[in-house]
Amino acid sequence: MHTPVLLQEVLDGLVVVKGGSYIDATTGEGGHLSKISETAGKVLAIEVNKEQLERTKSSLKRKNIVFVRNNFMDIEVTAREQGFAVVDGVLFDLGLSYWELSYLEKGLSFTRPNEPLDMRLGESEETAAEILARSSEDELYAIFSENSEEIRSRAIAHIIVEMRKNRAQKTVQDLTETIDKVIGQPDRKVYARIFQALRMHVNHEKENLTKGIEGAVKLLKQGGRIAVISFHSVEDRLVKRLMEKNGLKLVMKKTPAYGDQKFERSATLRIGEKTS
Ligand SMILES: C[S@@+](CC[C@H](N)C(=O)[O-])C[C@H]1O[C@@H](n2cnc3c(N)ncnc32)[C@H](O)[C@@H]1O
Repeated sequence: MHTPVLLQEVLDGLVVVKGGSYIDATTGEGGHLSKISETAGKVLAIEVNKEQLERTKSSLKRKNIVFVRNNFMDIEVTAREQGFAVVDGVLFDLGLSYWELSYLEKGLSFTRPNEPLDMRLGESEETAAEILARSSEDELYAIFSENSEEIRSRAIAHIIVEMRKNRAQKTVQDLTETIDKVIGQPDRKVYARIFQALRMHVNHEKENLTKGIEGAVKLLKQGGRIAVISFHSVEDRLVKRLMEKNGLKLVMKKTPAYGDQKFERSATLRIGEKTS
């Protein structure tokens, strides 16, 4: 299993206690879940990706874990149905698991040229390739610029619309080669930003997080905490706003020590407490 990001900080910040009820809204490979469930009374483990959930379910068999395949945007209903109407803490570790990035074959990583540009983790209707095929330049510009800080978003949107007249953007390589026409030479940072922005759009990630945090706050007991790990500044700004909007008091903000960063990303952990 991949080492979970900011593991000790999450355990300390969530204040995982014996007998407590917790929700891991982003189970992934179960790294955080495994540790939380060693101490907690019970844990609800939510995961949107079917294959990922099945893998973790079969490797982490513990009586105090309830696994549910769902989108965390429905966290409130799911939790009430599963007997988690009042909880001590909720974890959202956003983005993709190492396994998903490495083996899902959905074009989630720019390092895997032959994979199709699918990018759907759950039940989204449209693939990334379909979105690239039908969106106008302005729509693509909005997708890239609102979900990343890529300053060449306009030029990249423009070249995609030009290039697709001759060749559909179907694979990872199609898209990276198209991006190269704007940036001149391969640049992992630009690829990472554009792939991240597309994935966020395909999976409605901002909307999910907005609903997920709203729902989680309703389940928290007084003094309960929500921990969110985000992987880039666009996401972290949204987390900050959502915590403020939902009346959570910031009690911890952490980033990993230098050299402990995963993939192309830099993690930020925010922990908010329900005080009223
Ligand atoms: C960074 S990984 C979590 C890693 C996990 N904490 C661990 O220790 O292995 C994020 C996981 O959240 C899942 N996910 C992403 N969006 C989701 C959503 N809206 N609802 C539920 N799960 C989601 C992804 O499929 C992925 O498995």
